[in-house]
Amino acid sequence: MTPALALRDVRISRAEAPVVHGVSLDVAPASVTVLLGANGAGKTTLMDGIAGLVRCTSGTVSLDGRPIDKLSTYRRATAGLAYVEQARSVFRTLTVEQNLLVAQRDGADLDTAYRLFPELDKRRGLQAGHLSGGEQQMLVLGRALVSRPRTILIDEMSSGLAPVVVHRLMRAVADLVDLGIAVLLIEQFAHLALEIGERAYVLSKGRIAYDGPCAELRGDADRLHDFYFGATPQPAGAAVADHGPGSGPVESGGA
Ligand SMILES: Nc1ncnc2c1ncn2[C@@H]1O[C@H](COP(=O)(O)OP(=O)(O)OP(=O)(O)O)[C@@H](O)[C@H]1O
Ligand SMILES: [Mg+2]
Repeated sequence: MTPALALRDVRISRAEAPVVHGVSLDVAPASVTVLLGANGAGKTTLMDGIAGLVRCTSGTVSLDGRPIDKLSTYRRATAGLAYVEQARSVFRTLTVEQNLLVAQRDGADLDTAYRLFPELDKRRGLQAGHLSGGEQQMLVLGRALVSRPRTILIDEMSSGLAPVVVHRLMRAVADLVDLGIAVLLIEQFAHLALEIGERAYVLSKGRIAYDGPCAELRGDADRLHDFYFGATPQPAGAAVADHGPGSGPVESGGA
């Protein structure tokens, strides 16, 4: 099966310094692929490169089997790629409906977004600035959805949100799969992402350190911890740090 998104030996630099060192990965159609890694590992840089916000120094990026790395950001979007950037926000003075209309493409049905998020349906006429943080994030996802993407890149949408809201958003991401959409998901609540994902990649210092089923990492907090913080000798029976990737957002740790 042709991957929805395929990267081959992608290298990206930031301010002349190499950050992503030859990454290859596949995102299967209608599935969630999880991209994990410590702060500064290069996750956002990789997504920026896929979306065309930064130039890849070498390698190829293909969408549904067609190379897109020579296309502008806009042309990548019209080819079916949506990007929910880290800390993306809504137009606060526009209503919920107007926010969706601005993002709508090819006559997309706004009801698709309202079905995914009944919370927004009830607030169509409300200025987006009056929504809660979680509802604003739903609107960000809804805006991506009405651009009629076949693949969505999502970079950490749970920052500052209560766990119950993060669960709600993860459910919505899983529902995108039922709409036939492929998702590449960066998420600081690694254990939640691994619950809805099929395949996982862990990026460490700009290189793929793990490529395999989410199920394999799901129950292995020690291994996940090592990917984030590096393997450290542990006394027998020692517990994983309280705020490690298995139990909540990963807040620190060098790449
Ligand atoms: N605009 C930029 N200019 C220069 N260097 C950058 C820029 N953006 C990121 N970097 C550097 O690139 C490296 C990777 O950063 P990136 O933001 O891609 O990591 P990340 O995995 O997304 O981290 P986080 O989990 O904190 O979001 C870091 O060393 C960072 O300092
Ligand atoms: Mg990032």
